[in-house]
Amino acid sequence: IYGEKRKNSKGVNLNINSQYQPLIDAMAAFMDSEHHVKPLLAFDVEDDAAQRHDVLSPYDTRQRVGSVQWTTSEQAQRAVDAAWAAFPRWSDTPVEERAQILERFADLMEEHLAELMTLCSREGGKLLTDGVDEIREAVDFCRYYAMRAREMFDAPIPLPGPTGESNELILSGKGVFAAISPWNFPVAIFCGQMVAAAVAGNSVLAKPAEQTSLIAHRVVELLQQAGMPRDVVQLLPGDGPTVGSVLTGDARITGVVFTGGTDTAQIINRALADREGAALPTLIAETGGMNAMIVDSTALPEQVVADVVTSAFQSAGQRCSALRVLYIQEDVADHVIELLKGAMAELHIGDPRDLGTDVGPVIDEDAHRQLNDYIARLKEEGRLLAEATPDAEATQHGHFVAPTAFEIDGIDTLESEQFGPVLHIARYRSAEIDRVIETINAKGYGLTFGIHSRNESFAAEIAKKIRVGNVYVNRNIIGAVVGVQPFGGQGLSGTGPKAGGPHYLQRFATEKTRTINT
Ligand code: SER
Repeated sequence: IYGEKRKNSKGVNLNINSQYQPLIDAMAAFMDSEHHVKPLLAFDVEDDAAQRHDVLSPYDTRQRVGSVQWTTSEQAQRAVDAAWAAFPRWSDTPVEERAQILERFADLMEEHLAELMTLCSREGGKLLTDGVDEIREAVDFCRYYAMRAREMFDAPIPLPGPTGESNELILSGKGVFAAISPWNFPVAIFCGQMVAAAVAGNSVLAKPAEQTSLIAHRVVELLQQAGMPRDVVQLLPGDGPTVGSVLTGDARITGVVFTGGTDTAQIINRALADREGAALPTLIAETGGMNAMIVDSTALPEQVVADVVTSAFQSAGQRCSALRVLYIQEDVADHVIELLKGAMAELHIGDPRDLGTDVGPVIDEDAHRQLNDYIARLKEEGRLLAEATPDAEATQHGHFVAPTAFEIDGIDTLESEQFGPVLHIARYRSAEIDRVIETINAKGYGLTFGIHSRNESFAAEIAKKIRVGNVYVNRNIIGAVVGVQPFGGQGLSGTGPKAGGPHYLQRFATEKTRTINT
């Protein structure tokens, strides 16, 4: 029903030259600029050289993209004061006004596509295709939540009862939300959290990932240009120990919307629970995954390989939806692995601004080191099946990790999620399928899952048994579309509700009934 009322953003088709060339020309204007930014708070922030941090590009660390002045804990505290003071006024602002700000903001992001994509690439290391998808998703979140907010918050819901009394249900904002977002979707997830909390009537303190604060800053500037009051949504760049701990430790924070690692979600959960005298908080967390795919002997091998490469290596594997463990039925495993080796040999790893690049850099030095250490360890164990070859010249100054595939016995042997282009492959015999599904479920994560099979009843049975948020059959397992494939998992992968789904705003709202004896 929701799909009929709205359309997803079209974005830009990079394969059509009349769309590609003007975008590339427009991006050129932003390629060499430097951005020097400060927190965007309800009050003016003084320059503070001691808090400044340089931002270097992940694909070429010789390139300085700009610098960010981090928020001090004192400023964060004052920002909470301002958010708390702004809440009653914002909550009383008609939902129509709030929704229109989101829609103007969505239009502004489309108008500034080239600038935002350039920042996504220079600061976040994103490929052009990923940049287009990123802005599209952010725009979709704004328009979708604006539509849902009108449906949910505009008028009280009448609840006719048998008693002769008049009853109605009223939804409104809960208070102040902290929105803590990751670097891998620095526009889409950053915007999705922020606008959902705001359109539901909450004031928002947005803490972007340290790695992508420049993008976040430009996005919040556009949100303010669209009419968002500066005390309703504030931007607090900085690190977790400083900014995060002020936000999660303050008794006036009504809720936290968080996307990132499961460990961090647990730290936030404990910090919220430990606050003296605070009301019981809301935690909306979308966390990690150990996403698997099952390929049986009826699957189409060429399609499997194309979907595996996309699922495991697109965005350099830095998606929470990305494929980590591929289970292939024994009869077809050698054939599929041989095709996969061929496909991986064709991958182009290099400059993300080049349309021919398939895999760009990972986000930073820490990720680079940690992934390469892991890869070295599995190689030493003799588990390497395939490895792609980076373009030596294009990758020499950046944080690039070559996509690899390793053979393992099963998902139960893996200790933690590797957030990069590392694929694990396990073989299974048909008779073992129930045990395989039990092992995947037992891991405790539950985000995405793929099935490749032409046996419909097999696929239906597995889809039913697997405990995850998003199941994909005979396709890749990434790139959930707002309003069409609401995204989010269960267990160690998150609390729900699903982003881009009909129930998301509900969690940001409080409900009140009014009963009048007539
Ligand atoms: N929403 C993203 C996807 O579906 C993952 O974070 O790929």
